[in-house]
This record gives sequence, C-alpha cells and structure tokens, in this order.
Amino acid sequence: MKSASETSHAKAILIGEHAVVYGEPAIALPVPTIRMRVAIDPRDDGEQIIHSAMYDGTLAAAANTRFSGIATLIRQLLVRFNAPTAGFTLNIISDLPPERGMGSSAATAIAVVRTFHAAFSTPIDHAALLRWADISERIIHGNPSGIDAATCSADRPQWFTRGQAPMPLSLPRTGVLVIADSGIQGQTRLAVNDVATSLTVNPAMRDHITALGHLTHQTALAFAQDDIQLLGNVMSTAQMHLRALGVSHPQLETLITAASQNGAIGAKLTGSGLGGCILALAPTPEAADTVSAALTTAGATQTWQFDFSRHQTQ
Ligand code: MEV
Repeated sequence: MKSASETSHAKAILIGEHAVVYGEPAIALPVPTIRMRVAIDPRDDGEQIIHSAMYDGTLAAAANTRFSGIATLIRQLLVRFNAPTAGFTLNIISDLPPERGMGSSAATAIAVVRTFHAAFSTPIDHAALLRWADISERIIHGNPSGIDAATCSADRPQWFTRGQAPMPLSLPRTGVLVIADSGIQGQTRLAVNDVATSLTVNPAMRDHITALGHLTHQTALAFAQDDIQLLGNVMSTAQMHLRALGVSHPQLETLITAASQNGAIGAKLTGSGLGGCILALAPTPEAADTVSAALTTAGATQTWQFDFSRHQTQ
C-alpha cells in the first residue's frame, strides 16, 4: 500500500427519485462544487484508523455504528488486495451534509473505492466502481437503485434506469437550481421502506410511480427544447406525487412555498425526502439570489446554486 487520495462529489436528483427504485427512469446531476475527499496513509503499527465527521475510531470497532456499511466495504477492499491486516489511517473529508439527499454515503463509497485502488496501484473501470459502491449502499439503504453512486462518480447529468448503463444528458442553456438544506436529517432507508409498504398496502399508489417516470421523460424534453418553464412545471408536479407517496416533510413544504412565492418557477424535494434538501428552479441568476435569500429566511440551514449555463458540455 502507498499513500493515496481520491475524490467524488455530491449529487442532486432532479426528477424520478423513488420511482427509479421500481424501474422508472430518473435524471440526476453531479454537483462537483460540493466535494468529498478521502486520503489513506499506510502505518507500520498495524492499526486501522478512520477519521471522519460520522465516525472516528478503529475499523474493527465500526461494526455496529452508522459507519458499518463503509466499514464492510473497506474490509472487502482489503481482502481484494490481499491486505486484510494492513495498517492505515483513512481520512474522510466531506463538504456534503450527511443524510440530506445529496448522496453523502454514495460519495463516500466512491471516494473510498477509488482511494484503495490508487493505494494498491490498480486501475478500476466505471462499472466495477459502481459494483463496489453497491456493497455499502445495500447495507446503508437496503434497496438502492444505484443512481446515487452513478451520479456521485459522474461528470455529466445522467439519465438513469436501474440495471442499465447511465446515459449522459445536456442541460438547458439557462436556469439556476437553488439547493436548500432543511437542516432535517433525511432517512433514505425509512423513506424507501415506507414507499414499498404503501405500494403493498395500496396498489393504486403505483400510479404515482408511473407518473413520476412520465415526468422524467418530460424533463428530458424540457432539456432538449431548452424550456425551463416546462421544467419548472414538471418539478412542481413531481412534488405533488412525492407528497402523495408520503416522503415530504412540513419543513420541506415550507421551503418549497417560500421558493414559489419568491420567484421560483418550480420546486420539489430531492433524494429520499422525509427531510434533507429541496431544489428550486430560478429563471436567472438574479432570481436565484432572491430565492436563496427567501429560503434562508424560511429556515434553510445552507443553500447552493447550480447555474445550468456553467455546466454546459457542448
Ligand atoms: C435516494 O437518493 C434516491 C432514492 O430513489 C433511492 C434510490 O434510488 O436508491 C429514494
């Protein structure tokens, strides 16, 4: 093992969360300005030490903590590299708020897998990277579609369907997404389980899943036609379906209302919901500043802006 350091970044699901678990398409955006960095240094004393905001201690003691999914991933990586007892210090330095729908667990997994491969001088292709990340995502989330890991490791917006290779998309030329953190921890495992239970108890709920899939197709159309008004409408309609599925939260609704009353042309939760972040679409950078200020006044603990014009690929 040699010293190594690798990165990943946050993601924002623009449309299709939850429905993507059931085979509908979704669209997600990498947010490269919100970064995750992992660094590993070998140690001679055989200790396996982890420093992170979520967990600080030995790999062995992480088994029954919130870090257990990543700890399992690390143990399997050590076995893969025939170094199960190698000593190391692993530092996880993250700008991503944990459990806020921005892909913190997937971004950690991606950066950890990349760092171990770099430390053992072994290249890894993208499909293998996603298979590795799935190990911890399964433990943490139960039934991940794979969209979080795919987007936290991507450099282009993704059209994502479960079990298929993600396809890159080009963004509209104008429009600014404001991402606002409600400050309330989202609960991915619980939200995904709640939706599964709703669908079992009330099969008519499936209509919301189908409708969300249809809205993903509408979003692709809005991208292709550079129609941010359509995109805004689609986002607000998606929020109706997500609310009906039971994954919104009063504070998310407060933020969405504040955004809509202050110039946003659409707004919705992003990620699993039950807390976490919202996305609000503003037509211009000036409008985005007004929306950001209104969201802060309404209780958002942090806001970020994602200006489509700065993320053009062609
Ligand atoms: C979580 O970021 C997105 C969900 O659709 C779950 C998943 O796709 O794994 C809620």
